[in-house]
This record gives sequence, C-alpha cells and structure tokens, in this order.
Amino acid sequence: MIIRKSAQELERMAEAGRVVVETLALIGDYVRPEVTTRELDALAEEFIRSLGGVPTFKGYRGYPASICVSPNAMIVHGIPGQQRLADGDVLSVDVGVTLEGFVADSAYTFPVGDISDEAQQLLDACQSALTAGIEQCRVGRRLSDISHAIQRVTEENGFSVVRSLVGHGVGRSMHEDPQIPNFGEPGRGPVLAAGMVFAIEPMINAGGPEIILHDDEWSISTEDGSLSAHFEHTVAIAEEGPRILTASEGLVGASLLR
Ligand code: MF3
Ligand code: CO
Repeated sequence: MIIRKSAQELERMAEAGRVVVETLALIGDYVRPEVTTRELDALAEEFIRSLGGVPTFKGYRGYPASICVSPNAMIVHGIPGQQRLADGDVLSVDVGVTLEGFVADSAYTFPVGDISDEAQQLLDACQSALTAGIEQCRVGRRLSDISHAIQRVTEENGFSVVRSLVGHGVGRSMHEDPQIPNFGEPGRGPVLAAGMVFAIEPMINAGGPEIILHDDEWSISTEDGSLSAHFEHTVAIAEEGPRILTASEGLVGASLLR
C-alpha cells in the first residue's frame, strides 16, 4: 500500500529534506584528495544532529555509520573508513535524515579533483536519468513511467542500469511501498496520486549491470569493475507537478529541465 502524505506531513518531510540538502552541500565542500571517508561520516553526523535530526542509516539493520560512501566501481552502501580519496575518483555519498518522525533520502556522486571524460559522462547521464524519472512524477502517470524514463536516458547515453537495486516510497519509514525499479516498460503499475513520496535513485554502470556484494555484507560493486554512479532525490507528487524535497529549488522548473 502506498501511503499518501497530508500537506502538513509534506512540510515536515521538506524540513528533513532541507537538512539532507545542507548535509550533502557540506560534504561536497570537504570532498578532495587525501580526505578519509570516515572524516566525511563524522562531519555529516555532527552536522545532522546539530540541526536536531538523526542520521537515518545509523543502526538500520545494523548499518554502522551515518552515511554511505561508494567510490568508483562501488555502486552503493559503502561503509566509511580509513581509506583516503584520490584525484580522479568519483564518490557516491548517500544521506538519510529523520526529523520530527519523517525521513528524507538523497544521494550525489561527487568528482574528486580532475576526473576522466568517461567518468564525467557517467555522472551527467545519471543526473539526466534522475531528472527524467522525476519529470514523470505527475498525477495520473503510472509508476513504471518513472522506471522507463530512467532506463531510456541511461541507455541512450551508452550506460547500463543496475537491475537488482531499486528506489522506494519514503515517509515515516525510509523504505515504504512501492519499490521503484530503474528499468521497465512504461504504463504499468499504480497510478500516481498527490501525496505520494518517492525516493528515486538510478544506479548506473559504465560497463555491465551485474553486481557483487562484498564480504562486509553491505557494500555493493559492479561485477566487471567498471565505474558506477548514483544520484537520488526524495520527490513528492503534487497537483502542480513534481516537488523535489531534497533540492533547494523545490518545484521542477526550467532550470532543472534544461
Ligand atoms: N538510499 C539508500 C536506500 O534507500 C540508503 C540505505 S543505506 C542503509 O536504500 F544503510 F541504511 F541501509
Ligand atoms: Co534510498
């Protein structure tokens, strides 16, 4: 069952979203060669708590940190540690914040120093795929219209979509119905209605779509060692159109759809 949020609940989710946005912006200011991912985690946790929020991921099914950090061929769920960033890396950072009982969830893949043209193209394609998915978040569209848009844009750019990881509904819990695959035929699944809130998160690879789970039982990488990118927004379906709760711009406008 897809839980629809009231106008008041959406404002609370937007507050959580603002903390997520500011946390990702702060992390972006610190991402550079030689920084350890553990330092980024500590920075994020302290900042989130200073704003009255709780890092949603910490303790979730035993997850040991406040954010996920997934460099290069790692797709998602990397655990922060002693490892230092290096020039040319790309680093997916995933942040979830619970504030006043509601969760917002967003991820951004940062370039570290100078990155290759292929890496930049992968990041651009993943952001475009996310934007295309968000553009489908309208009353009357079907759930798989989001999935299809993400797959189409990813494959048009010559990259592949990870099949076995999905986006999700979000609200009082980080993971609510429905699951949102990043591929599929359009026109299938539930009809979208005002008050639904989705965490849309394309995970795309430069090589094949297959994944491996590491021995830590959290981190997931591409099987073929190719680069991966991950962008995520928490998006509410409003009568007026998609409302991004984890972007400073809010409503989708000309700037986002450029
Ligand atoms: N954005 C990720 C998700 O929706 C974050 C989960 S990390 C976890 O699944 F550690 F909390 F599992
Ligand atoms: Co998510």
